[in-house]
Amino acid sequence: MQLGVRVCVAILGLFRQGCLSRARILPHCSFSSLPRQMSKWDSHETCSLPSPQDKPRVLITGDTNIHLSLKQYGTENVILTDIKKPAPHVFSNGPFVYADVLDYKHLRELIVTNGITWLVHYSALLSAVGEANMALARKINITGLHNVLDLALEHCLRFFVPSTIGAFGPSSPRDPAPDLCVQRPRTIYGVSKVHGELMGEYLHHKYGLDFRCLRYPGVISVNTPPGGGTTDYAVQIFHDALSTGHHECYLRPDTRLPMMHISDCHRATVEFMQTPESQLSLRTYNIAAMSFTPDELAQEIQKHLPHLKVTYSLDPVRQTIADSWPMRFDDTNARRDWGWAPAFGLEELVADMLRSIEDMRVSQGLPVN
Ligand SMILES: NC(=O)c1ccc[n+]([C@@H]2O[C@H](COP(=O)([O-])OP(=O)(O)OC[C@H]3O[C@@H](n4cnc5c(N)ncnc54)[C@H](O)[C@@H]3O)[C@@H](O)[C@H]2O)c1
Repeated sequence: MQLGVRVCVAILGLFRQGCLSRARILPHCSFSSLPRQMSKWDSHETCSLPSPQDKPRVLITGDTNIHLSLKQYGTENVILTDIKKPAPHVFSNGPFVYADVLDYKHLRELIVTNGITWLVHYSALLSAVGEANMALARKINITGLHNVLDLALEHCLRFFVPSTIGAFGPSSPRDPAPDLCVQRPRTIYGVSKVHGELMGEYLHHKYGLDFRCLRYPGVISVNTPPGGGTTDYAVQIFHDALSTGHHECYLRPDTRLPMMHISDCHRATVEFMQTPESQLSLRTYNIAAMSFTPDELAQEIQKHLPHLKVTYSLDPVRQTIADSWPMRFDDTNARRDWGWAPAFGLEELVADMLRSIEDMRVSQGLPVN
C-alpha cells in the first residue's frame, strides 16, 4: 500500500476509535506527502507527557546564558546548541553540541537520543542584522522556527521562543503596547517574530502544542556582546563609560524603549516555563521592567561616572526601527496569571552593570576609566 494511503487509513481508524489525545483536528491527508512524518499523526501513538515530578530534559538552540538558569534541573539535563564556538566557560557548564536550526534531521536526532522534553528556541538573526540580510533572516527566523515547532509537536515537547518589542509596528499602540493589539512590524525580524507567535498559537489551539512565548524588552547583559539589535546601545554605553569615557549613540537622546536586566529576563523565562498550563490565559505575554531613553540612561550612569560624555550620530535604519516600536509594555496579564515581577529598575540596572563590567575589566587586566 502506498504510504499516503496507509496514513489516510490510519487517520480514519483514529477518528473511528476517537483515540486522539491532544490533536483536536487532523490535518488533511496530503500531509503524508511531506518529508516529515509526524509520528502522532500517522500512528496510534499518543503523547506520553512526563509527570510534573520528572526533571525536564532541555534542549536550547542559540548560545545564551539562559542555560545557567536552567541548570537547576541538573547540568546533564540541559543541552546547549549553536553554530558558533561558545565561550570557554560554557564547556565546563554541561553539554554543548553543534547544531544548525536549519538541519531538521540532526535536531530530531538530538531530541530523540537525549529524551528531550523542553525545547527553548533562541537562535535568530536580530533586527539590524536582519535588515542587512533579509534572505538569511527569513531562513533562520522562519524556516528554522518551522523546524523546531514541527519537532516540538512531533515529540510532545514544551516549547519556548522569545518574541520582542520588534513584533509591534507604527500602527500598534506604543505607550503602552498591550498583549493583544494590531501588529504590523516593518522589519523582517518583527515579521518573523509575529509569524512565530501566530504559528505557535495555531499549533496550540489546533493540536495542543504546549507553546509558550514571552515578548522580551531590550535585554541588558554584561556577558552577551551586542548582537546587531536596535537596543545594543544600552549595553555598549556601559563598556564605553568604563573604557574610553565616551559613547557615541546611534539613537536620538529622547528615544524611549522598554528594557530589562538579563537576570530578570532569565528568571521570567524559567518561571513562565514552570507555570502549569491551567494558569495560562494567553500563550504570548509581554513582560516589562523599565523604560528609558539614551539621555536618561546616560544621566543615571553619570551619577557614578560624571566624566562620561555622550554624543549622538544617528543611524537612520535603527532610528526608524526604534520609532516604530513600543515605548512601554503593558504586562498586566503576565503579572496576574503567573506572578511576573521584575527585580531590577534603572538604578539597580546601572549599579549592577557598572560593577560587573568593572570586575570583568580588572580580571582581564584592562584599565578602568
Ligand atoms: N537581545 C535582546 O535584546 C532580545 C530582545 C528580545 C528578544 N530577543 C530574542 O532572544 C533570542 C536570543 O537573542 P540574543 O540577543 O542572544 O541574540 P544573539 O544574536 O546573541 O544570539 C542568537 C544566536 O543564534 C545563533 N544562530 C544563528 N544562526 C543559527 C543557525 N542557523 N543555527 C543555530 N544557531 C544559529 C547565533 O550563532 C547566535 O549565537 C533571539 O530569539 C531574539 O530574538 C533578544
